[in-house]
Amino acid sequence: MYEQALKLRKIMEQKKSSSKPNKNLWVYCVASGKGGVGKTNLSVNLGLALQNLGKKVLLIDADLGLANIDVVTGLYPKYNLSHVLSIGKSIQDIIVDGPKGISVLPGASGLYELANITNAQLEILIESFKSISGDFDIIIIDTSAGISKNVIGFIQSADEVIVVTTPEPSSVTDAYALIKVAHKHCDKINLIVNKTENYKEAQFTMEKLTKAAKKFLNIDINYLGFILEDKSIHKANMEQIPFFIKYPEGLASKCLINITSKLVYGQQSSIENRVTVDGWFKKLISFIKTNVGAM
Ligand SMILES: Nc1ncnc2c1ncn2[C@@H]1O[C@H](COP(=O)(O)OP(=O)(O)OP(=O)(O)O)[C@@H](O)[C@H]1O
Ligand SMILES: [Mg+2]
Repeated sequence: MYEQALKLRKIMEQKKSSSKPNKNLWVYCVASGKGGVGKTNLSVNLGLALQNLGKKVLLIDADLGLANIDVVTGLYPKYNLSHVLSIGKSIQDIIVDGPKGISVLPGASGLYELANITNAQLEILIESFKSISGDFDIIIIDTSAGISKNVIGFIQSADEVIVVTTPEPSSVTDAYALIKVAHKHCDKINLIVNKTENYKEAQFTMEKLTKAAKKFLNIDINYLGFILEDKSIHKANMEQIPFFIKYPEGLASKCLINITSKLVYGQQSSIENRVTVDGWFKKLISFIKTNVGAM
């Protein structure tokens, strides 16, 4: 208990020196029904594209799978969120500086192990998030494929979900199953068609999904655009350099720029948000605590 009080004090001291809370934080959760559709590549490179537009981006690695943000960026963080409680690390010790000034918070998937933490421990975590409350404009959460409780928690904590699918029928079917659940937890569902051969194929995929969502769920899906099948993504991944940095003039980067402008435009036209980083975290943790019995 004494140790925890010390940790809390350390965090409070760091908090004093931190900037004013950013009340315009916007949180995107990147999700998919099927695995391997390109979520991690999209999350990292979208973060870079937004950072390029002057936004301060925090990328959260909430993926339980193997192909995580570290593999795409070549960053191998030493610590994750669990170390705030276990060895008294501050959130600043855990966040890693990525390319182009982007920040990466590793190991958020471990948050679900924190479902049974005490209120004192929870307070330590919340305070640690408060110390970065003014540091970011945008959070992008990269999740695992599928509709686990874990993913739903991240979806409900976000302002918008970005569903990624490829044109393959199995991927589209799984995307629809995800949307069916996601729309109950988040008001705005966006769609990106990845690994498409051409504009027409992407359009066909988008229409299939948006029409089904309208007809059976009575919801409007916001189509953000497509990313063409581009072999340079594989090459960039082999070198562990994000494609937006390695091939800024490549097909995938050009498609991503279109998506990014649409996203930023859409965000500006949305109702003003009033969430801070710690506010986002509180929302997430309250879902985790409430739903632990059902896991
Ligand atoms: N537009 C694209 N063109 C060609 N290859 C792509 C494209 N997007 C992603 N890939 C490739 O698809 C594979 C999976 O990408 P990624 O790891 O980003 O998917 P994911 O959805 O995060 O996977 P998981 O569900 O396992 O987390 C990688 O090998 C990547 O190089
Ligand atoms: Mg991934």
